[in-house]
Order: sequence, then C-alpha cells, then structure tokens
Amino acid sequence: MNKYIKLDDEIKTPTDIREESEDVGRNTSDNPTMGDIINRRLSRRGFLSGSLAVAAISTTVSPIALLAASEARAATTSFDFEEIMAGVDEKHYVAKGYDADVLLRWGDKIFADSPEFDPMNQSAESQAKQFGYNNDYVGFIPLEGSSDHGILVVNHEYTNAELMFPNWATIGKDGEGKDKVNNGAFTKEIVDIEMAAHGGTVIEIKKTDGKWAPVLDSKYNRRITATTEMLISGPAAGHERLQTNADASGTKVFGTLNNCAGGVTPWGTYIMAEENFHGYFGGSLPEGHREAANYERLGAPAGWYSWAEHHERFDVSKEPNEANRFGWIVEVDPMDPTSMPVKRTALGRFKHEGCETIVNPVDNRVVSYSGDDERFDYTYKFVSNAKFNAEDRAANKDILDDGVLHVAKFNEDGTVDWMPMIFGEGPLTAQNGFESQADVLIETRRAADLLGATKMDRPEDVQPNLTKGTVYVMLTNNTRRKVGDENAANPRANNAFGHIIEITETGGDFASTKSTWEILLKCGDPKVAEVGASFHPSTTDNGWFGMPDNCAVDAEGRLWVSTDGNDKEKTGRTDGLWAVETEGELRGASKLFFRVPIGAEMCGPVFTPDDETLFLAVQHPGDDGLATFENPATRWPDFKDNLPTRPSVVVVTKQGGGKIA
Ligand code: FEO
Ligand code: CA
Ligand code: CA
Repeated sequence: MNKYIKLDDEIKTPTDIREESEDVGRNTSDNPTMGDIINRRLSRRGFLSGSLAVAAISTTVSPIALLAASEARAATTSFDFEEIMAGVDEKHYVAKGYDADVLLRWGDKIFADSPEFDPMNQSAESQAKQFGYNNDYVGFIPLEGSSDHGILVVNHEYTNAELMFPNWATIGKDGEGKDKVNNGAFTKEIVDIEMAAHGGTVIEIKKTDGKWAPVLDSKYNRRITATTEMLISGPAAGHERLQTNADASGTKVFGTLNNCAGGVTPWGTYIMAEENFHGYFGGSLPEGHREAANYERLGAPAGWYSWAEHHERFDVSKEPNEANRFGWIVEVDPMDPTSMPVKRTALGRFKHEGCETIVNPVDNRVVSYSGDDERFDYTYKFVSNAKFNAEDRAANKDILDDGVLHVAKFNEDGTVDWMPMIFGEGPLTAQNGFESQADVLIETRRAADLLGATKMDRPEDVQPNLTKGTVYVMLTNNTRRKVGDENAANPRANNAFGHIIEITETGGDFASTKSTWEILLKCGDPKVAEVGASFHPSTTDNGWFGMPDNCAVDAEGRLWVSTDGNDKEKTGRTDGLWAVETEGELRGASKLFFRVPIGAEMCGPVFTPDDETLFLAVQHPGDDGLATFENPATRWPDFKDNLPTRPSVVVVTKQGGGKIA
C-alpha cells in the first residue's frame, strides 16, 4: 500500500513563500572569508588550531594560491538525489525515484490481538497494545545481520491531548481577543490514556518484495509506557534521594517519560533518553526540602500535564523524591520482551535529548554522547571502564553502570576539554554539597556548573561518526543568548536558527579528554545578512534550513540532519531531512531530501546497515498552534474526515532497490 506522495512539477512552492524570500534581498555574506577557508583546510589536514595553525599555513603557502587551487578542482557532491522544493502544505514529499511509505501510525496494532484503532472510543488498555503517540527516536536492530529484517524501536515522546481526543478541546479567545485552544477536562481516563501513549514500541519488521511491514505475531513485540516497571542501576541506585513510599529500595520505578531521541548500542540494546520529565510533575515541595535547589535547576515541577491530580507520585508535595527517578538514560533489551528496562544512573541525570553509543576503536571501551536540551545547558560523554566484548553479548549487559561521565568545555583555541565528573575531584566535594558519586549524578547540572562547562545553544542529538573520527553536535537555537553572552562555540546572539559543531576526537580516540572542534554550519537563510548563516554558496534556496535537531550518519559516514521548528512564518518551509556535506570543497553544502506535512517536526532518521532503507518519524503533524482533533492543519497520513491526524513512522526506499544516495 503506497501512501507516499511524490513531488512533481505541477506542485509549486506557495507564492507567499516566494514573495517572502524575494523580499529580503541578496547579499554576499555567505561567502567564506579567507580566514574561513584557511580554517577549513587546516581542519582537514590535522589537529592544528588557533594562532599556531594560522602561522603554520602562512609560512607554507599563500592564501591566494589556496583559493586558486580550490577553484580549479571541480566540486563533487556525495549525494546524488534530486533535491525537492521546500514549502508548506498538508503532505509529505520525498526526492524523485524514492518511495516514502507510512509504516506505523499512532493507534496501529502492535500485537496480533491488539484492538483496531478507534479514535472515538479510546482507552488506556487499548493504547497499551497499540503504537504510541508522537514517535521521535527510531532505531533499527538487524536480526541475524539482515538489513531486510529486524526490530524497530521507537520512542513516543509526548502527547497532544487537543489532537488526540474527540470533542475535547475547543477554540476560545485569549486576553487580547486572539484565538487559542482551550483544553478539556483531564479526567483520570484521559490521563491514563496519555500515560499509555508515552514510552516506546519494540516491533519486528520485515521487507518482502521491496516493501516493509510489521510482524504482528512476533515474540519481540512490546510496548513500554509510563507505567512499565523498571530497575534503577549504577552509582545512584538505592540512594536515599531515590527512595519513595512505593519503593523503599530506591531501585524500582514505574515508567519512563518524555523519551525524545535515544540510541542503539553496539550490543543491540535500545536506549530511551528521558528529556523534559519536569513537565509531568505538579504540586510544590515541602518548605525547606533538600531537593529545592536540585529541582529548581531542572525547572521541576512544571505542571505541563495533569498527572499529579490522579497519580500522587507525580505530586512532589506528596512524593518529593519521585522526580529524582526521572531524567536518566533507560536501556531496554529488545531480544527479551520479559526483561525489565534499566535506568543507568552512571550517565547522569538531566534533560537527555538522546544517547548514541559506539565502541572506541582505540581501546574497545564504550563511549556514549548525550546533549542536555535546554538553553545554556551542556554536552556530555560517558566512557565505560570495561571493554566491549564482541564475542559474548551478555558480558556487555551492565557495561553502562561503570565508567566516567564527562562534560564539555569548548575553548577559544579550538580545543575541547572533556572534564571528568568524579566525586571528590575538583569542586565535586562535600564543601559543595556532594557526599558521593550518587549526588554528583543526581545533580549532574549543578556539578557541571561548578566545573565551568560551556553553556550551549540547546544541545540536541550528539552523533559520533566512526568513519571519520568526528562527532556532530546539533545546537537547535537559543534566542535568549544576549549580545555579550556569546562564546566561541556559540557565536551568535539571538541564535534563532541554531548551528552544528563538529568535534574531532584526537587520533580517532573517542575516549580522549582533549579534542578539537569547529563550527560545521551556522543555520538559517543565507540571503539574510543579519542571520549570518554559513551554508556553502552552492546550497539552493531549498537546501538551507533552521533548527537542526536529530541527525543520522549513513554507512559511508555522510551526515543527514532533521529539523524541529521550521514553519511558514519562521523559514517559509516545513521541517524535513537535509543531506549535509562535511568534507571537501562542498563542506557545508546542504540538499533537501524529505519534508514533513504542515505542523510536524522531523525526528528519528536512521538507516539500515546497507543504506537501502531510511526510517523517519513524523511527529505532531497538523499541530499549527490552533489545531484540535476536529480541526487539525492536516489529516495526514490518512486524509479521511473520520480519522484524526496521526504521528507516524515513514519508511523510505529507492524504487527498484538500491542505496539511498
Ligand atoms: Fe525533544 Fe530536544 O527535543
Ligand atoms: Ca529532539
Ligand atoms: Ca525537538
């Protein structure tokens, strides 16, 4: 069943978008300066940096000669696909010659005996057996090494009640007379459906005659929700700050929340990162409670949801330690559906966007990267003490429990210090309120503050690229960075469109504590001088983007970036997936491969190992700020009057087979 829509010549970029783009005029600020060229070349040649590097190049070759050489060589793109047009409408589009089929929609059956999706008669029980809401991270775990058969793991980050429930939300007026959405009642029934729509899905999928489909009677299929029992392990497990009335041991917790991005480990487990967990807690801490400063640093409790009204553990006045049991990295063994997911406290507690893990080629230790997605928060990496065991999968079971968490300091000279976060070292002592490593991990942010980590513009995905010995850091935006608050790694005040940093791990050693960095891309419209974007000049008007969020590296080590926050007003385009050159003369060039329907964000890009399939997550389609169940901005993907808009996973393949290129 083909639900995809291809871009064809009849479909025009909306007129208003064109007018908008022409209105802003042209300028030449996107041309690289001589300094940029020198820096780019140096970064290709090794680990020289700063003034030493500039001095070195100027004594060996003149900049004019460099420029002439670069113009003489024909620039070749490593991406063959024909770029699609940027724009905004109700459909999704993929490059010509590719299919983009909807694989799994919110409410789809996960088990052979799951009830059919019936949006007018929802229940928590049904939802717990169906695909959850707002798919974000997508991971593919091959079965027997196959790229045509495997386990798909998908995070369900959050819920939009106004889009999920019929006859529930209404349109009213705000204080200034503008239209706004009024929520209906958050009854226990509604809250319990929300809880069942969170978490993750583990589902076997198979490609037959070129088309992917779920295997509903698979023994692997499972839903994880906000009520699934899990273990807490690592240095903070059992600590009194994690103990509650329901769990005096401090080692067992129900559920995982706001699982944004994640990862698949080299031993084939599924990582779910807990991001904005603070939004699920309500009430206020008892006067003078020891967690006051800890919770304040995390913005908890924020009361975005009404769960505290029906489940006491989300009310911090009644269960003050429960919020300490969220904000962790969760590891799930998808091969054993009866296994309990485990919260691995050694990787720290903050608003984890995701967590991508590799085996360090230098010493076989395991390295996991994670961004803390909030304005002015930090970039982290965890290095295991034990080495990865490729022969014995079970030997890696608890490898993430023992190791060193590091936080990044990006220096002006182009180096990064990965600062170890170890109790008793530097400022992480009793003098500053840390009595153990558990305290350091429970209050990771405060520990990183004391170490002097670099305040970033909202770190989202942090993706290692083993092929090239590099790491990409997606920094989505930060409009609260003021003039005077800039630093070398976050150089733009009022950074509305975000940027991407490339870290080079010294000598290909991902466990290194001293690396180098440079900015790969400053995002936004290159035609607007004040934006200061740095896309390669060959990038077309469709090829630039704002707000990088998630990303994927394919088998060849090429970078694909997905976005969150592009819309008609901000950038004249929806979110989508862009292919970005990271090497050679075209470094910084970008092309649009896929775009989402109006109101959606693009999440979850991941390739099968053979690069012949790409999985994408279309999150919150139709959510244009004034949408309700009855009136979404699009009814994607079904386009039926009796069906709501549904977040869905899309699978992209090349027509007739072959690599996505
Ligand atoms: Fe859930 Fe950082 O986006
Ligand atoms: Ca995200
Ligand atoms: Ca996002």
